[in-house]
Amino acid sequence: MGSLEHIRFDIPVIGQICPVLIIGAGGIVEGAHLPAYRLAGIPVAGIFDIDISKARRLSTVFAIPCVYDSIQQMVAENGCNCIYDIAVPGSRIAEVIRQLPGNSYALIQKPMGENEEQAAQILQLCRQKNIAAGVNFQLRYAPYILMAKQMLSEGLLGDICDLEVYVNVYTPWHLWRFLYGAPRVEILYHSIHYIDLVRNILGEPAGIFAQTTRHPLMMQLAAVRSNIIMDYGDFVRVNISTNHTHDFGMHNQDAYIKIEGTKGAVKIKLGLLMNYPDGVEDSFEYIVSGGHPYEWKKLPINGSWFPHAFIGSMYEIIKARQGIIARPDNSVEDCMNTMRLVELAYNASFNFSKPL
Ligand SMILES: NC(=O)c1ccc[n+]([C@@H]2O[C@H](COP(=O)([O-])OP(=O)(O)OC[C@H]3O[C@@H](n4cnc5c(N)ncnc54)[C@H](O)[C@@H]3O)[C@@H](O)[C@H]2O)c1
Repeated sequence: MGSLEHIRFDIPVIGQICPVLIIGAGGIVEGAHLPAYRLAGIPVAGIFDIDISKARRLSTVFAIPCVYDSIQQMVAENGCNCIYDIAVPGSRIAEVIRQLPGNSYALIQKPMGENEEQAAQILQLCRQKNIAAGVNFQLRYAPYILMAKQMLSEGLLGDICDLEVYVNVYTPWHLWRFLYGAPRVEILYHSIHYIDLVRNILGEPAGIFAQTTRHPLMMQLAAVRSNIIMDYGDFVRVNISTNHTHDFGMHNQDAYIKIEGTKGAVKIKLGLLMNYPDGVEDSFEYIVSGGHPYEWKKLPINGSWFPHAFIGSMYEIIKARQGIIARPDNSVEDCMNTMRLVELAYNASFNFSKPL
């Protein structure tokens, strides 16, 4: 097997694009949206937050020309000549979409509402107003995932027969105050990325099974650890195991996605999740048949989940608006299925907890 140097991630050359207007100026916009758009040369023309001081601060840090006093003002001045980038908590998404103009384009931060019912409401609103919207399930576009997909499409891994996500880290949930008192935490806000990724790679599962568990030292939070199994028939094992409460130093922290096929395998270390939010280095290891037996090799990654993957989710909306694709890959229609699986996972966990 020759060199696999062509398996690489490069920031896409996006070309002429209309400006992005951001609604919500919180942590994820500062840490990922704006750095990603800066890297890809995507212009940001304005920002709004119900806490105007947050919008003002980010406008200064990222040289955003306009801070709006309201969504109405933003819409009145820009209409459909932009892409609306919504990054507010899931429970507030519908009220924001109601204020957007019809026939416009939008990217919505995940989760698509706090449950399947809210997701269906968001989908219906987008359809009624003919808003072409996508959801920011951006792990699909993380550099190392795009590299794994490239290997899959070239047949280098053969047929997938095992997909495993393993997370054993300490996640500082207190960074997201809105999670305190929220009825759902881990699957809805974290493992949702993996459920979405598995769907994106393998298609719809026949079923989903889960148990999600609370932690005795995190009494103000709902379940923060999960075991999820997705059913892809007799020959494909899909397993998501997350423990975010490993508060015992870095020594045994670990986070990876492993994809095994009939011809080869890839193991991606999710460095971002370890020692969060500083993270440690990611890695991309692979093994393919035809090489030296059991010799794992590494490839450079040229980017990470944060912020590079956020280019991919916005690029889908840009391509749809430019008419290059009919519908974003991460469309609200597609992502509704991820929300449906999240709902089924919580139902499965609830039923699992019932006495035999
Ligand atoms: N895709 C990812 O990987 C990822 C990562 C982190 C957070 N998120 C999601 O992004 C969303 C925001 O997370 P965050 O970490 O930035 O939270 P945050 O609390 O730091 O920011 C949310 C911001 O939204 C503003 N806001 C609330 N309602 C609003 C409204 N109606 N109009 C305008 N602004 C409003 C708040 O004032 C706040 O500044 C959450 O839904 C979260 O799940 C996604």
